[in-house]
Amino acid sequence: MREKIQEKPHDVDDRIRILKDWLYQIEENKGGKKGKVLSICNLKGGVGKTVTAINLSAFLAAYKKRTLLMDLDPQGHCGLGLGIDVENLEKSIYETLSDGTRSLTDTILPIKPNLDILPANIDLAGLETELITDSHRTTKLIDKLQSIKHLYEYIIIDCPPSIGLLTINALVASHAVIIPVQSSILSLYGIEKIMETIGTLMEDLSLDIKVYLLLTLFERNLRESWIVREKIQSAFGKLLLNTIIRKNTRLNEAVRRGITILEYEPRSMGAYDYHQLAREIMEIE
Ligand SMILES: Nc1ncnc2c1ncn2[C@@H]1O[C@H](COP(=O)(O)OP(=O)(O)O)[C@@H](O)[C@H]1O
Ligand SMILES: [Mg+2]
Repeated sequence: MREKIQEKPHDVDDRIRILKDWLYQIEENKGGKKGKVLSICNLKGGVGKTVTAINLSAFLAAYKKRTLLMDLDPQGHCGLGLGIDVENLEKSIYETLSDGTRSLTDTILPIKPNLDILPANIDLAGLETELITDSHRTTKLIDKLQSIKHLYEYIIIDCPPSIGLLTINALVASHAVIIPVQSSILSLYGIEKIMETIGTLMEDLSLDIKVYLLLTLFERNLRESWIVREKIQSAFGKLLLNTIIRKNTRLNEAVRRGITILEYEPRSMGAYDYHQLAREIMEIE
């Protein structure tokens, strides 16, 4: 919408529409931010964490929910997936988390209306080692988030594919965790492990986080996908989100081009599925 506002309005209708958009946005933002923190987490790579983090954030922002996408994966895929040159960042999340005096606001980059990003790059890998000797090693992120939480309705964290101190920091700061599960039989073995790990962490650190499972890379024409869905449904019942993310090459193409699916192909299956996910999340969180 920011682009539209910068455009010169052509006629009265345009002016009214733009004004309405503004008023609507002010109205939406007045109602106090929820500051809900949702982590996207799985011990495995390649399950759709980053694609989910980017596109869920994009749709929440499209619903005029002030959203921050935070990359906690040193691979920096969130930034890359949004066309940011992560190797040459002036400031990355690493500096902010390792330097007690810095605020997260110094590192936030606006992406589009209602969507900001806190990008990461390989420097972040060093933080895990630095934190080991830090007495506040599990609460670094939650402490830093306090000063910016009120600015957002949703903070979406893309986690690395491991349970190290970065993921633990994300979980400690989260209200809920979304675990993307690839719709393949092999995932059924991994899912037990991650549920167990998260369960143990929640107990050890006395965390109260909601856990959601999200089926990704679902292929309607494969029996395997349906079997996986049935098994997860019967094992985890309510934890499984209703939305299913189907395999859709448009999602892959969008991320490679550094744009969200909403901009790349809003009429694709991928856009439809992430739109559904955003609606479901807004309903339950
Ligand atoms: N629903 C999908 N349909 C098609 N390709 C997808 C989908 N979700 C993810 N991908 C592709 O699969 C690969 C892994 O996805 P990614 O989100 O990077 O996983 P992770 O962050 O868990 O490692 C990427 O190449 C991505 O573009
Ligand atoms: Mg990733």
